[in-house]
Amino acid sequence: MARAQTSFACTSCGQASLRWMGRCPGCGEWNTLVEEKASAPKDARPAARRPRGAGQAEPRKPVALAEVAPAETERLRTGSDEFDRVLGGGLVPGSVVLLGGSPGIGKSTLMSAALARIQGAGRPTLYVSGEESAAQVRLRAERLGEAALAVPVLAETSLDVVLASLEQERPSACVIDSVQTLWSSDLTGAPGSVGQVQEVAAALERFAREAGCAMILVGHVTKEGTLAGPRVLEHAVDCVLQFEGERERSFRTLRALKNRFGSTNEIGVFEMRAGGLSEVADPSDRFLRDADLVPGSCVLCAMEGTRPLLVEVQALVASTEVVPPRRVTGGIDRNRLSMILAVLARHGGPSLGSADVFVNVAGGVRIEEPGADLAVALAVASAAREDALVGGGGPAACFGEIGLTGELRYVAHADRRLQEAARFGVERVVMPARCVDDSLPVTRTGAAVPARTLAEALDAALGGSAGRRAA
Ligand code: TYD
Ligand code: MG
Repeated sequence: MARAQTSFACTSCGQASLRWMGRCPGCGEWNTLVEEKASAPKDARPAARRPRGAGQAEPRKPVALAEVAPAETERLRTGSDEFDRVLGGGLVPGSVVLLGGSPGIGKSTLMSAALARIQGAGRPTLYVSGEESAAQVRLRAERLGEAALAVPVLAETSLDVVLASLEQERPSACVIDSVQTLWSSDLTGAPGSVGQVQEVAAALERFAREAGCAMILVGHVTKEGTLAGPRVLEHAVDCVLQFEGERERSFRTLRALKNRFGSTNEIGVFEMRAGGLSEVADPSDRFLRDADLVPGSCVLCAMEGTRPLLVEVQALVASTEVVPPRRVTGGIDRNRLSMILAVLARHGGPSLGSADVFVNVAGGVRIEEPGADLAVALAVASAAREDALVGGGGPAACFGEIGLTGELRYVAHADRRLQEAARFGVERVVMPARCVDDSLPVTRTGAAVPARTLAEALDAALGGSAGRRAA
C-alpha cells in the first residue's frame, strides 16, 4: 500500500515544505517544522464542471443562545472525591482530558483506579497501554485491589488498531497511556513527535465526540514543560490536568490548568501509599503536622480553589560570598521571591544582598496564589533575624499579598482562611487590614492581627522594630 502523502509545515509562520528541515526557510526559526498529512483538495473537478452553487456553502441561521438546548450534564464519577472535584464533578462523556505529569508521579495509578471505579459502576471501560505490557498493567492493578483487575486492557501502540478496537468495544471511558507512544501509519515521524501526537490526539478526539466516550490522554511533561509533545495538545482538549509532587515524597497534587466544564482553581491532594493513591481529605492536618514555632517558619493560610489550606513556609538565610547570591525556591515562584526580597529590603525588612535565601513550602505542595507573599516575607525576616515569629500559644500564621510599594493588598476569603486557622488552634493571624471589614464575623476577628503595610506586619509578627535589623 502506498504511504499517504505528508508534508511539513512551520508551526511559527506556516511555511510549507516537502521535507523536514532543521531551520524554517520562511522565518528562520529552528525546529519548528512539523509533519502533517497532506490534505487532498476537496473537489478536484474544474470549476466549470461543478454543479451550480457547490463551491459556495449554504448559509445557516444562527440561533439565540437561550434557544440552544443545554448540554447533557450527566457525568461519570471516578469514585474519588478529590479527582471528581478537580474535574468539576466527574468526567464528561464525549470530552477529552489531557493528564500531564513527570514520569513516576502516579499517572497510571490514578487512571487504573479511576477506570476500576467506573467499570465497577457498570460502565464499560478500556485501558490502552502503549508503555507497559498487559502483564505490567496487571501487576499495578493487583496492588490497587480486586476492582482494578476487572478493567479490560489493550497493550498496543498502533493508532489504527486502537481505533478499530474502540469502534468494536465502544467504552464509556478510555485511558490512553500514553499519547506519546501511539503512532499513526499515515505519518513518517517517530511516535511522540509533534506531528504524530497531534494526529493521534485528533483521531481519538473524533472518536470520543462521536461515541460519547470520556477519553483521557496521559502524557508526560518534563518539569519545565518545554519538551515537544503534550503541550501542543492543550488547545485541542477540553481539560488539562497536571499531576505533580516530588517523587521522593508521598504527597501529590492534581490541578486543572484548563477546564471547559469546571473551575481551574480546585486542587486534589493525594498520598501515594502501598495500596495506590489515597485521598487526603484534610490536607491542612497533614501539612501542619511538623510545623513548629522556630525561626524561619511561618504558617500560611492559603486558599486553593474553594478550599482553605494551611501550609508551612520555611526559609533559610545564609551569608555568602557568591555574587549574585542564590535564591532557591520549592513550591513558590522564584521571581515572586525576588520581588518580595526587594520590597523587604526597601520597606523595613532585612537587606539580603549578600545572603543566600532558600524558601520552601513544606510537604512538597506548590502554592500559586498571591496571598502567599506575606508568609514568604515573614519566614525570610524571621530566618534572617534568627528569631521565631510571635505565635501567642499556637503556630504563627498569616496571609496577604504584598504590593511593590510595601502595602498589604486585599485577598479574597479572609473568613474561610481564619476559620481554618482556628481549627488548628492558631491564635494570631497577621493579615491585610483591608480584609478586616464588616463581612468578617466577630467570632473571627479575635485572631486577626490587621496590618496595613509590610512594615506593620513585620512589627506585629516579630515584635517591636524587629525586622528592621539587617541580616
Ligand atoms: P505510576 O502510576 O506507574 O507512575 P506514572 O504512570 O506517572 O509514571 O507509579 C509511580 C510510582 O508509584 C511507582 O514508582 C511505584 C509507586 N506506587 C506505590 O507506591 N504504590 C502503589 O500502590 C502503586 C501502584 C505504585
Ligand atoms: Mg505510567
